[in-house]
Amino acid sequence: MTDETDNASVRLLGRDRTPFLPNRLWIGGAWVSRVNDPATWEAAARADEALTTQLHGSVPSSSASMPTVVKDILDACEVRDGHRVLEIGTGTGYTAALLKDRVGARGSVVSVDVDPEIAATARRNLDAAGVDVEVVCGDGFEGLAREGPYDRVHVTCAIRHVPTAWLDQCPAGKIAMPWGPAFSTERVVALDVADGEASGRFGAAASFMVMRAQRSQAWDDWPDGGETKEISLGLGWRELDGPLGGFGEFVVGLLMPGVTHRTSGADPEDGERVLWLERGGVYASVGFGTDIATNITGDERLIREYAEAVSWWYDHGRPESGGFGLTVRSNGENARQHVWFGSPTDARWEH
Ligand SMILES: C[S@@+](CC[C@H](N)C(=O)[O-])C[C@H]1O[C@@H](n2cnc3c(N)ncnc32)[C@H](O)[C@@H]1O
Repeated sequence: MTDETDNASVRLLGRDRTPFLPNRLWIGGAWVSRVNDPATWEAAARADEALTTQLHGSVPSSSASMPTVVKDILDACEVRDGHRVLEIGTGTGYTAALLKDRVGARGSVVSVDVDPEIAATARRNLDAAGVDVEVVCGDGFEGLAREGPYDRVHVTCAIRHVPTAWLDQCPAGKIAMPWGPAFSTERVVALDVADGEASGRFGAAASFMVMRAQRSQAWDDWPDGGETKEISLGLGWRELDGPLGGFGEFVVGLLMPGVTHRTSGADPEDGERVLWLERGGVYASVGFGTDIATNITGDERLIREYAEAVSWWYDHGRPESGGFGLTVRSNGENARQHVWFGSPTDARWEH
Protein backbone atom coordinates (compact mmCIF):
# COMPACT_ATOMS: atom_id res chain seq x y z
CA MET A 1 0.00 0.00 0.00
CA THR A 2 1.27 3.49 -0.79
CA ASP A 3 1.36 6.10 1.93
CA GLU A 4 -0.85 9.03 0.86
CA THR A 5 0.81 11.46 3.29
CA ASP A 6 3.77 11.07 0.96
CA ASN A 7 1.73 12.48 -1.95
CA ALA A 8 1.96 16.29 -2.00
CA SER A 9 -1.30 16.80 -3.91
CA VAL A 10 -3.29 14.69 -1.42
CA ARG A 11 -1.57 16.24 1.61
CA LEU A 12 -1.95 19.84 0.47
CA LEU A 13 -5.16 19.78 -1.55
CA GLY A 14 -7.18 16.75 -0.50
CA ARG A 15 -7.27 15.21 -3.97
CA ASP A 16 -4.71 13.08 -5.82
CA ARG A 17 -3.47 14.66 -9.07
CA THR A 18 -2.22 11.33 -10.46
CA PRO A 19 -5.46 10.44 -12.39
CA PHE A 20 -5.18 13.79 -14.23
CA LEU A 21 -1.60 13.33 -15.42
CA PRO A 22 -0.77 12.06 -18.92
CA ASN A 23 1.33 8.91 -19.35
CA ARG A 24 4.25 11.02 -20.56
CA LEU A 25 5.84 13.77 -18.45
CA TRP A 26 8.70 16.07 -19.46
CA ILE A 27 11.22 15.67 -16.64
CA GLY A 28 14.78 17.01 -16.64
CA GLY A 29 14.82 17.59 -20.40
CA ALA A 30 13.37 14.23 -21.49
CA TRP A 31 9.97 12.53 -21.78
CA VAL A 32 9.43 9.99 -19.01
CA SER A 33 6.87 7.28 -19.76
CA ARG A 34 4.64 5.82 -17.10
CA VAL A 35 4.90 2.45 -18.87
CA ASN A 36 8.68 2.32 -19.35
CA ASP A 37 9.78 4.07 -16.16
CA PRO A 38 6.91 3.82 -13.65
CA ALA A 39 9.12 4.56 -10.62
CA THR A 40 10.32 7.96 -11.92
CA TRP A 41 6.85 8.83 -13.23
CA GLU A 42 5.16 7.95 -9.90
CA ALA A 43 7.75 9.84 -7.83
CA ALA A 44 7.20 12.97 -9.96
CA ALA A 45 3.41 12.64 -9.73
CA ARG A 46 3.63 12.52 -5.93
CA ALA A 47 6.19 15.34 -5.60
CA ASP A 48 5.49 18.99 -4.85
CA GLU A 49 6.65 19.98 -8.33
CA ALA A 50 5.28 21.48 -11.53
CA LEU A 51 5.21 18.87 -14.30
CA THR A 52 5.35 19.86 -17.96
CA THR A 53 2.79 17.91 -19.99
CA GLN A 54 3.08 19.59 -23.42
CA LEU A 55 5.82 21.33 -25.41
CA HIS A 56 5.52 23.65 -28.40
CA GLY A 57 8.93 23.24 -30.00
CA SER A 58 11.19 23.45 -26.97
CA VAL A 59 8.85 25.76 -25.00
CA PRO A 60 6.57 24.25 -22.31
CA SER A 61 2.97 25.07 -23.27
CA SER A 62 0.97 23.15 -20.65
CA SER A 63 1.70 21.68 -17.25
CA ALA A 64 0.31 20.38 -13.99
CA SER A 65 1.15 23.18 -11.57
CA MET A 66 3.14 22.74 -8.35
CA PRO A 67 0.71 21.68 -5.56
CA THR A 68 2.00 24.36 -3.12
CA VAL A 69 1.31 27.09 -5.66
CA VAL A 70 -2.05 25.57 -6.62
CA LYS A 71 -2.96 25.87 -2.95
CA ASP A 72 -1.73 29.49 -2.78
CA ILE A 73 -3.98 30.58 -5.68
CA LEU A 74 -6.93 28.50 -4.49
CA ASP A 75 -6.69 29.90 -0.94
CA ALA A 76 -6.33 33.47 -2.27
CA CYS A 77 -9.45 32.95 -4.42
CA GLU A 78 -11.61 32.08 -1.34
CA VAL A 79 -13.90 29.75 -3.28
CA ARG A 80 -16.98 28.79 -1.24
CA ASP A 81 -19.91 26.40 -1.40
CA GLY A 82 -22.43 27.49 -4.05
CA HIS A 83 -20.05 29.80 -5.97
CA ARG A 84 -20.12 30.09 -9.75
CA VAL A 85 -16.50 29.90 -10.91
CA LEU A 86 -14.78 30.62 -14.21
CA GLU A 87 -11.35 29.03 -14.55
CA ILE A 88 -8.82 30.20 -17.15
CA GLY A 89 -6.18 27.58 -18.13
CA THR A 90 -7.73 24.12 -17.69
CA GLY A 91 -4.48 22.20 -18.29
CA THR A 92 -4.95 18.66 -16.97
CA GLY A 93 -8.33 19.50 -15.38
CA TYR A 94 -6.94 18.92 -11.87
CA THR A 95 -7.51 22.45 -10.51
CA ALA A 96 -10.98 22.48 -12.11
CA ALA A 97 -11.77 19.35 -10.06
CA LEU A 98 -10.45 21.06 -6.89
CA LEU A 99 -12.70 24.05 -7.60
CA LYS A 100 -15.69 21.75 -8.04
CA ASP A 101 -14.81 20.02 -4.73
CA ARG A 102 -15.09 23.45 -3.09
CA VAL A 103 -18.25 24.83 -4.78
CA GLY A 104 -20.20 21.60 -4.21
CA ALA A 105 -23.40 20.50 -5.94
CA ARG A 106 -25.03 23.94 -5.63
CA GLY A 107 -22.12 25.71 -7.35
CA SER A 108 -20.70 25.46 -10.87
CA VAL A 109 -17.29 25.49 -12.54
CA VAL A 110 -16.59 26.21 -16.19
CA SER A 111 -13.00 26.06 -17.37
CA VAL A 112 -11.46 27.52 -20.55
CA ASP A 113 -8.26 26.39 -22.28
CA VAL A 114 -6.96 27.79 -25.54
CA ASP A 115 -5.49 24.48 -26.72
CA PRO A 116 -8.01 22.03 -28.31
CA GLU A 117 -5.96 18.91 -27.48
CA ILE A 118 -5.48 20.01 -23.86
CA ALA A 119 -9.17 20.88 -23.48
CA ALA A 120 -10.27 17.50 -24.92
CA THR A 121 -7.92 15.57 -22.60
CA ALA A 122 -9.04 17.57 -19.56
CA ARG A 123 -12.67 16.84 -20.45
CA ARG A 124 -11.88 13.08 -20.54
CA ASN A 125 -9.94 13.29 -17.24
CA LEU A 126 -12.81 15.07 -15.48
CA ASP A 127 -15.39 12.64 -16.88
CA ALA A 128 -13.31 9.65 -15.77
CA ALA A 129 -13.03 11.16 -12.27
CA GLY A 130 -16.81 11.75 -12.20
CA VAL A 131 -16.38 15.53 -11.78
CA ASP A 132 -19.10 17.76 -13.25
CA VAL A 133 -17.18 20.63 -14.87
CA GLU A 134 -17.77 22.15 -18.31
CA VAL A 135 -14.56 22.54 -20.33
CA VAL A 136 -14.59 25.05 -23.19
CA CYS A 137 -11.87 25.51 -25.80
CA GLY A 138 -11.36 29.21 -26.36
CA ASP A 139 -9.27 32.26 -25.57
CA GLY A 140 -9.53 32.89 -21.84
CA PHE A 141 -8.66 36.53 -22.44
CA GLU A 142 -12.30 36.95 -23.47
CA GLY A 143 -13.62 35.11 -20.42
CA LEU A 144 -16.88 33.27 -21.11
CA ALA A 145 -19.81 35.70 -21.11
CA ARG A 146 -22.53 33.12 -21.81
CA GLU A 147 -22.13 31.37 -18.42
CA GLY A 148 -21.60 34.53 -16.35
CA PRO A 149 -21.81 36.41 -14.11
CA TYR A 150 -19.31 34.62 -11.87
CA ASP A 151 -18.45 34.91 -8.18
CA ARG A 152 -14.83 33.97 -8.84
CA VAL A 153 -12.32 33.94 -11.72
CA HIS A 154 -9.49 31.48 -11.02
CA VAL A 155 -6.52 31.83 -13.38
CA THR A 156 -3.66 29.34 -13.78
CA CYS A 157 -1.59 30.94 -16.53
CA ALA A 158 0.63 33.98 -15.96
CA ILE A 159 -1.02 37.32 -16.66
CA ARG A 160 0.68 40.53 -17.79
CA HIS A 161 -2.50 42.48 -18.66
CA VAL A 162 -5.85 41.81 -17.00
CA PRO A 163 -8.66 41.79 -19.57
CA THR A 164 -11.69 44.00 -18.97
CA ALA A 165 -13.89 40.97 -19.80
CA TRP A 166 -13.07 39.38 -16.42
CA LEU A 167 -14.19 42.49 -14.52
CA ASP A 168 -17.40 42.65 -16.57
CA GLN A 169 -18.16 38.94 -16.03
CA CYS A 170 -17.22 38.93 -12.33
CA PRO A 171 -18.53 42.33 -11.26
CA ALA A 172 -18.71 41.75 -7.49
CA GLY A 173 -16.33 38.90 -6.65
CA LYS A 174 -12.67 37.96 -6.72
CA ILE A 175 -10.16 37.34 -9.51
CA ALA A 176 -7.13 35.30 -8.38
CA MET A 177 -4.14 34.85 -10.66
CA PRO A 178 -0.37 34.73 -10.99
CA TRP A 179 0.43 38.28 -12.21
CA GLY A 180 3.86 39.53 -13.18
CA PRO A 181 5.53 42.50 -14.82
CA ALA A 182 7.22 41.75 -18.16
CA PHE A 183 10.57 41.69 -16.29
CA SER A 184 10.09 38.75 -13.95
CA THR A 185 8.12 35.73 -12.81
CA GLU A 186 4.84 36.20 -10.96
CA ARG A 187 3.23 36.70 -7.57
CA VAL A 188 -0.22 35.43 -6.64
CA VAL A 189 -2.72 38.26 -6.39
CA ALA A 190 -6.44 38.16 -5.57
CA LEU A 191 -8.31 41.25 -6.75
CA ASP A 192 -11.57 42.26 -5.06
CA VAL A 193 -13.92 43.55 -7.74
CA ALA A 194 -16.50 46.31 -7.18
CA ASP A 195 -17.88 49.09 -9.39
CA GLY A 196 -15.69 48.26 -12.40
CA GLU A 197 -12.48 48.38 -10.34
CA ALA A 198 -10.44 45.59 -8.77
CA SER A 199 -7.62 45.76 -6.26
CA GLY A 200 -5.39 43.44 -4.26
CA ARG A 201 -1.98 43.03 -2.65
CA PHE A 202 0.70 40.66 -4.02
CA GLY A 203 1.24 37.39 -2.16
CA ALA A 204 3.27 34.21 -2.66
CA ALA A 205 5.79 33.71 -5.45
CA ALA A 206 4.73 31.74 -8.51
CA SER A 207 6.20 30.90 -11.89
CA PHE A 208 3.67 30.10 -14.60
CA MET A 209 3.59 29.84 -18.38
CA VAL A 210 2.43 33.18 -19.71
CA MET A 211 -1.03 33.38 -21.29
CA ARG A 212 -0.71 32.93 -25.03
CA ALA A 213 -0.65 36.28 -26.85
CA GLN A 214 0.87 37.93 -23.74
CA ARG A 215 4.21 36.12 -24.12
CA SER A 216 7.21 38.28 -24.90
CA GLN A 217 8.66 37.70 -28.36
CA ALA A 218 11.64 39.91 -27.60
CA TRP A 219 14.27 37.25 -27.03
CA ASP A 220 13.82 34.92 -29.97
CA ASP A 221 17.27 36.10 -31.07
CA TRP A 222 19.99 37.88 -29.16
CA PRO A 223 20.33 41.43 -30.49
CA ASP A 224 23.58 42.73 -31.92
CA GLY A 225 25.58 44.26 -29.09
CA GLY A 226 26.53 47.42 -30.97
CA GLU A 227 29.12 49.89 -29.78
CA THR A 228 30.34 49.72 -26.20
CA LYS A 229 30.88 52.77 -24.04
CA GLU A 230 31.81 53.25 -20.40
CA ILE A 231 29.53 55.15 -18.02
CA SER A 232 29.21 55.59 -14.26
CA LEU A 233 25.91 54.60 -12.66
CA GLY A 234 26.88 55.36 -9.06
CA LEU A 235 26.35 51.72 -8.11
CA GLY A 236 28.84 48.85 -8.08
CA TRP A 237 28.18 45.54 -9.75
CA ARG A 238 27.07 43.87 -6.52
CA GLU A 239 24.25 46.42 -6.12
CA LEU A 240 23.31 46.27 -9.80
CA ASP A 241 23.26 42.48 -9.78
CA GLY A 242 21.62 42.27 -6.32
CA PRO A 243 17.92 42.06 -7.25
CA LEU A 244 18.39 39.67 -10.18
CA GLY A 245 17.28 36.11 -9.56
CA GLY A 246 15.88 36.98 -6.11
CA PHE A 247 12.75 38.63 -4.73
CA GLY A 248 14.06 42.06 -5.80
CA GLU A 249 13.66 41.07 -9.44
CA PHE A 250 9.86 41.28 -9.18
CA VAL A 251 10.02 44.66 -7.45
CA VAL A 252 12.47 46.15 -9.96
CA GLY A 253 10.13 44.83 -12.67
CA LEU A 254 7.21 46.69 -11.07
CA LEU A 255 9.21 49.90 -11.36
CA MET A 256 10.08 49.28 -15.03
CA PRO A 257 6.78 48.62 -16.86
CA GLY A 258 7.17 46.81 -20.18
CA VAL A 259 10.87 46.01 -19.75
CA THR A 260 12.05 42.42 -20.29
CA HIS A 261 15.50 41.09 -19.45
CA ARG A 262 18.02 38.33 -19.87
CA THR A 263 21.37 37.68 -18.25
CA SER A 264 24.45 35.88 -19.45
CA GLY A 265 27.57 34.77 -17.62
CA ALA A 266 27.94 34.41 -13.89
CA ASP A 267 31.14 36.02 -12.77
CA PRO A 268 31.71 39.75 -13.09
CA GLU A 269 35.25 39.30 -11.75
CA ASP A 270 35.98 37.68 -15.12
CA GLY A 271 34.11 40.45 -16.91
CA GLU A 272 31.54 37.88 -18.00
CA ARG A 273 28.30 38.90 -16.32
CA VAL A 274 26.00 40.86 -18.65
CA LEU A 275 22.43 42.09 -18.17
CA TRP A 276 20.36 42.75 -21.28
CA LEU A 277 17.28 44.96 -21.15
CA GLU A 278 14.56 45.48 -23.76
CA ARG A 279 11.42 47.58 -24.11
CA GLY A 280 9.37 47.81 -27.30
CA GLY A 281 12.21 46.54 -29.49
CA VAL A 282 14.82 48.92 -27.95
CA TYR A 283 17.76 47.06 -26.37
CA ALA A 284 20.61 47.87 -24.03
CA SER A 285 23.16 45.79 -22.18
CA VAL A 286 25.31 46.40 -19.16
CA GLY A 287 28.48 44.44 -18.44
CA PHE A 288 29.01 44.33 -14.70
CA GLY A 289 32.51 45.65 -14.09
CA THR A 290 34.20 45.33 -10.73
CA ASP A 291 33.87 49.03 -9.86
CA ILE A 292 31.39 51.86 -10.43
CA ALA A 293 32.30 52.40 -14.10
CA THR A 294 30.54 49.92 -16.29
CA ASN A 295 30.37 49.08 -20.00
CA ILE A 296 27.09 49.50 -21.79
CA THR A 297 25.71 49.14 -25.30
CA GLY A 298 22.41 50.29 -26.80
CA ASP A 299 20.03 52.80 -25.22
CA GLU A 300 21.69 54.39 -22.19
CA ARG A 301 18.31 55.59 -20.83
CA LEU A 302 17.19 52.00 -20.30
CA ILE A 303 20.31 51.28 -18.24
CA ARG A 304 19.85 54.45 -16.18
CA GLU A 305 16.20 53.55 -15.59
CA TYR A 306 17.33 50.13 -14.33
CA ALA A 307 19.93 51.72 -12.01
CA GLU A 308 17.24 54.11 -10.67
CA ALA A 309 14.84 51.21 -10.01
CA VAL A 310 17.58 49.27 -8.19
CA SER A 311 18.48 52.37 -6.13
CA TRP A 312 14.80 52.90 -5.26
CA TRP A 313 14.64 49.30 -4.02
CA TYR A 314 17.70 49.72 -1.77
CA ASP A 315 16.62 53.21 -0.57
CA HIS A 316 13.26 51.77 0.53
CA GLY A 317 14.91 49.00 2.55
CA ARG A 318 14.59 46.30 -0.12
CA PRO A 319 10.81 45.85 0.31
CA GLU A 320 9.30 42.46 -0.52
CA SER A 321 6.49 42.13 -3.04
CA GLY A 322 3.81 42.10 -0.28
CA GLY A 323 4.36 45.87 0.12
CA PHE A 324 2.95 46.33 -3.39
CA GLY A 325 -0.47 45.79 -4.94
CA LEU A 326 -2.33 45.93 -8.22
CA THR A 327 -5.42 47.95 -9.16
CA VAL A 328 -7.24 47.48 -12.48
CA ARG A 329 -10.13 49.40 -13.97
CA SER A 330 -12.38 48.61 -16.96
CA ASN A 331 -10.98 50.35 -20.02
CA GLY A 332 -11.44 48.90 -23.51
CA GLU A 333 -10.04 45.38 -24.07
CA ASN A 334 -7.12 45.59 -21.65
CA ALA A 335 -8.12 46.93 -18.27
CA ARG A 336 -6.11 49.94 -17.18
CA GLN A 337 -3.68 48.65 -14.55
CA HIS A 338 -1.42 50.31 -12.05
CA VAL A 339 0.87 48.94 -9.37
CA TRP A 340 1.13 50.74 -6.04
CA PHE A 341 3.47 50.70 -3.06
CA GLY A 342 1.98 50.99 0.44
CA SER A 343 -1.70 51.60 -0.36
CA PRO A 344 -3.70 52.01 -3.59
CA THR A 345 -3.45 55.79 -3.39
CA ASP A 346 0.36 55.88 -2.89
CA ALA A 347 3.24 55.78 -5.40
CA ARG A 348 2.12 54.12 -8.61
CA TRP A 349 3.41 52.72 -11.87
CA GLU A 350 1.14 52.23 -14.88
CA HIS A 351 1.41 48.76 -16.42
C1 LIG B 1 -0.08 25.82 -16.04
S1 LIG B 1 -1.26 25.23 -17.17
C2 LIG B 1 -2.72 25.06 -16.19
C3 LIG B 1 -2.65 24.00 -15.13
C4 LIG B 1 -4.00 23.49 -14.74
N1 LIG B 1 -4.77 24.41 -13.98
C5 LIG B 1 -3.95 22.11 -14.10
O1 LIG B 1 -4.51 21.89 -13.06
O2 LIG B 1 -3.36 21.22 -14.71
C6 LIG B 1 -1.62 26.67 -18.12
C7 LIG B 1 -2.69 26.45 -19.18
O3 LIG B 1 -3.09 27.71 -19.68
C8 LIG B 1 -3.50 27.53 -21.01
N2 LIG B 1 -3.57 28.83 -21.67
C9 LIG B 1 -2.57 29.61 -22.15
N3 LIG B 1 -3.05 30.71 -22.73
C10 LIG B 1 -4.41 30.64 -22.60
C11 LIG B 1 -5.48 31.48 -23.03
N4 LIG B 1 -5.26 32.60 -23.72
N5 LIG B 1 -6.75 31.10 -22.73
C12 LIG B 1 -7.00 29.94 -22.06
N6 LIG B 1 -6.02 29.10 -21.67
C13 LIG B 1 -4.74 29.45 -21.94
C14 LIG B 1 -2.46 26.58 -21.57
O4 LIG B 1 -2.93 25.90 -22.74
C15 LIG B 1 -2.21 25.64 -20.38
O5 LIG B 1 -2.95 24.46 -20.50
